[in-house]
Amino acid sequence: MIKIAVTGACGKMGGLIIENVLKSQDMKLVAAIDVTNIGKDIGEVMRIKNLGVAVTDAKDIDTVLKKSKPDVLIDFTIAHAAVNNITASAKNKVNLVVGTTGFTPEQRSTIDKAIKDNGIAAVITPNFSIGVNVFWGLLAEAAKRLDDYDIEIIEAHHNQKKDAPSGTAMKAAEVISQTLGGKEFVYGRKGLAPRHKEIGIHAVRGGDIVGDHTVLFAGDGERIEIKHQAHSRAAFAKGAVRAAVWVSKEQPGIYEMSDVLGIK
Ligand SMILES: NC(=O)c1ccc[n+]([C@@H]2O[C@H](COP(=O)([O-])OP(=O)(O)OC[C@H]3O[C@@H](n4cnc5c(N)ncnc54)[C@H](O)[C@@H]3O)[C@@H](O)[C@H]2O)c1
Repeated sequence: MIKIAVTGACGKMGGLIIENVLKSQDMKLVAAIDVTNIGKDIGEVMRIKNLGVAVTDAKDIDTVLKKSKPDVLIDFTIAHAAVNNITASAKNKVNLVVGTTGFTPEQRSTIDKAIKDNGIAAVITPNFSIGVNVFWGLLAEAAKRLDDYDIEIIEAHHNQKKDAPSGTAMKAAEVISQTLGGKEFVYGRKGLAPRHKEIGIHAVRGGDIVGDHTVLFAGDGERIEIKHQAHSRAAFAKGAVRAAVWVSKEQPGIYEMSDVLGIK
């Protein structure tokens, strides 16, 4: 039985992840951690049956992990909170699945160091869907063949999303930049903004859009668009739980979803 702790348990992704954990014969929810609904049964928060797991306060994460002894902690919170949660998890030798996005380069090096110093295994990705992981691969292929085309990335998300551009769009830009030997990124354009050979990145926010990503390769007389659209968050939650099973048995290291899916 794989014992799972969830940080951000009361959030949109947290709830879906717990639903997937409950469906699995091989997994058990042992801790639900958040900064709201403290003391309530997480099943009550999710409006299902009581699960016998009370929501515990993120400030007590160290004690909670020592007591509940999870094999894997799944974090979908917000960047600054995730840094603390990940550090506490690493210190307690609990393997990790991290879906939180919007880390600054400094935050990312802090979490990478905590994972490496404590010898645990972690899967970290801004997108757990199979489709997006294939999409990133297609972008690298397209960029190789269209290296002199103008490249623009346009992403759209719901109006509650806090970080911009999305982690998925940034990863798309990095994949293309690495393929082409390094590119400058330009975020939106305003005023005099002549185009050079940069990758343009644009974020749209509105309504309940789950997540759209379009990469435009525009040349003389033609253009190609490679597009991924998420219809629901189910694909992310399913992928994150699959990653948790995989990482529970993995050697120390920092992995991506492509490692879990075996599509590297
Ligand atoms: N990697 C992926 O596939 C993927 C998919 C969807 C969303 N995300 C990312 O996951 C994160 C969460 O998204 P969401 O839509 O569930 O957001 P949400 O706002 O619905 O949920 C976030 C939850 O985290 C809680 N929280 C805040 N601080 C905390 C702390 N210190 N410890 C524990 N919990 C804390 C909040 O109270 C909230 O319940 C965002 O960064 C989002 O971009 C990633």
